[in-house]
Amino acid sequence: MEQLLEQIRKQAGEALDSCADLKELDELRIKYLGKKGELTAILKQMGGLSPEERPVMGQRANEVRAYIEEKIKSRMDELGKKALEMRLAQETIDITIPGRRQQMGGLHPLSIVTEDMISIFQSMGFDVVDGPEIETDYYNFEALNLPKDHPARDMQDTFYIAENILLRSQTSAAQVRVMETRKPPIRIICPGRVFRSDEVDATHSPVFHQMEGLVVDRGITMCDLKGVLEQFAHEVYGPETQVRFRPSFFPFTEPSVEVDVSCSACGGTGCKVCKGAGWIEILGAGMVHPNVLRCCGIDPEVYSGFAFGIGLDRITTTRYKISDIRLLFENDVRFLEQFQ
Ligand code: DAH
Repeated sequence: MEQLLEQIRKQAGEALDSCADLKELDELRIKYLGKKGELTAILKQMGGLSPEERPVMGQRANEVRAYIEEKIKSRMDELGKKALEMRLAQETIDITIPGRRQQMGGLHPLSIVTEDMISIFQSMGFDVVDGPEIETDYYNFEALNLPKDHPARDMQDTFYIAENILLRSQTSAAQVRVMETRKPPIRIICPGRVFRSDEVDATHSPVFHQMEGLVVDRGITMCDLKGVLEQFAHEVYGPETQVRFRPSFFPFTEPSVEVDVSCSACGGTGCKVCKGAGWIEILGAGMVHPNVLRCCGIDPEVYSGFAFGIGLDRITTTRYKISDIRLLFENDVRFLEQFQ
């Protein structure tokens, strides 16, 4: 037995010295010290020894075991260090390799224009509000002084979802919601998408964008309307731009106007952008009709207001000299990249 123990010690020592990694080391540990290992197998034979031999062999076996355990521990340290070194070597970062350039996204031209316009109106004290794109007939038409049989409904070819539910054809719908929930003084803008059943061409799309504005307070007059909108036009198109107010008709305002700016492409002499007119129409506006105020619970004897609706797509196409509104919706990256 003594010989056997010595043989195991020697074999184990050699095997441990030459083992290459932690996995192999663990296999050796099981092979020699495990429950079914070689040393354990020998210890099981101790019962067959004489009482004198037993303690001697027992001590010997313990020595061999201690030797193997010690050896495993020191090899474990060594191999662990080696493994760590290898990992560190593999993971080193070569900071001289040229980096991969991140593609930066940019804002859509419509978003740039919308954000600019929001900040112009915010600097004049307007709040930004949001309204639903799916609206009721009441908010989109009726409360805006457009009863069911009103001929002016034909001005907007509307998408109906159900009898009284529609895709809003104008952001004006938000005006009523604001007047129902806020008390004057009111000063809001509402940018958003609107929908009309229009054929697609260079200047029309069934989805387009508007920014509604509404001011209600005591003593608001047409002068306030002109001042605010002229200021706005000068900020967007530059101080040399001329602004003209033309009489018009909207059921929810009285009087009503349409506002044109002198064409920034030709300076007013007439070109392709303004279709030879020298002027570009950018918005509709007017003094809020007393019927609309009354409908929202605001006394028209005490309060007055003005409202306006700006076509954001038109502002964007004229500002960037974009010849076709469809470019705004096709999401061609070659087009969009130009605005970064
Ligand atoms: N909602 C109108 C349209 O889509 C634009 C408009 C005109 C809005 C006059 C207004 C307004 O608030 O006062 O054609």
